[in-house]
Amino acid sequence: MARVFVTRRLPLEPRDVLGADADVVVFPEDRPPTRDELFRGAADAEGLVCLLSERVDGTLLDRCPALRVVANVAVGHDNIDLDAVRARGIVATNTPDVLTEATAELTWALILAVARRVIEGDAYVRGGRFTHWSPTLLLGTELSGRTLGIFGRGRIGDAVARRAAAFGMDVVHTSRSSGVPFEYLLDRADVLSIHAPLNEETRHAFDDAAFARMRRGAILVNTARGPIVDEAALVRALEAGRLGGAGLDVYEDEPRVHPDLLARDDVVLLPHVGSATTRARRAMARLALENVAAVLAGRPPKTPVP
Ligand code: DGY
Repeated sequence: MARVFVTRRLPLEPRDVLGADADVVVFPEDRPPTRDELFRGAADAEGLVCLLSERVDGTLLDRCPALRVVANVAVGHDNIDLDAVRARGIVATNTPDVLTEATAELTWALILAVARRVIEGDAYVRGGRFTHWSPTLLLGTELSGRTLGIFGRGRIGDAVARRAAAFGMDVVHTSRSSGVPFEYLLDRADVLSIHAPLNEETRHAFDDAAFARMRRGAILVNTARGPIVDEAALVRALEAGRLGGAGLDVYEDEPRVHPDLLARDDVVLLPHVGSATTRARRAMARLALENVAAVLAGRPPKTPVP
């Protein structure tokens, strides 16, 4: 029977999808396996179910000669060296669609939290400082009538853009096939939300030059991948008062967060929870396991990495 290695406990019992007598080993700790633990766990596996924290490269694949499918429990797949996977005839899959709405909702949570200073307000009340109503307390940015810029209008970018009408915002976007030039997006956006995949074109797309071009007081939100933003440049833009704030769910060197971001009130920081609803995470786990089951049974997976 084909052996499957799952690199973390999932919000779903793998045997519920793979079958009661499936030969599954789940890494037992609530942390990413080390490289050695990954090598050992996946050594004789035919199916690997992994997360964005696992680097799947030629070195790993060479140690796993039986591997037939790598199923990422994520839509992003920048942790997988696709050339190395394909060169060995292994199938790579991801989990698109099932997390789109959850991630769009979290993006709006960040936009609103930064624009209306929700976290600062919460700390103010808990800190016992709310002693009277004030006409100048915690003034924020009104979204109505402003422009939302979407960097990368794929599925998630589109779901974020669709919600903008409810807040009376105009939308401009870039995408692979349509939209405005990047410079125009920077010029126009009052809130700029990142939804592109991480690749060599998008790495550090938001650098000093990009921030210098953005509107004074604009808000940057990133629920995609951290390295799309040059964090040191972001800190400089915030310090100089060029940007009005930032909402970040992802980091350049995750899980490390730039210390100067940690110190700022105008930045809202979340621990990469864009897709963290029970529904989305269970659906992601199910889809990844279904992809493994399909490939091991000789069928095409539902969602191969395109
Ligand atoms: C993804 O799917 O790529 C996210 O970052 C985790 O939900």
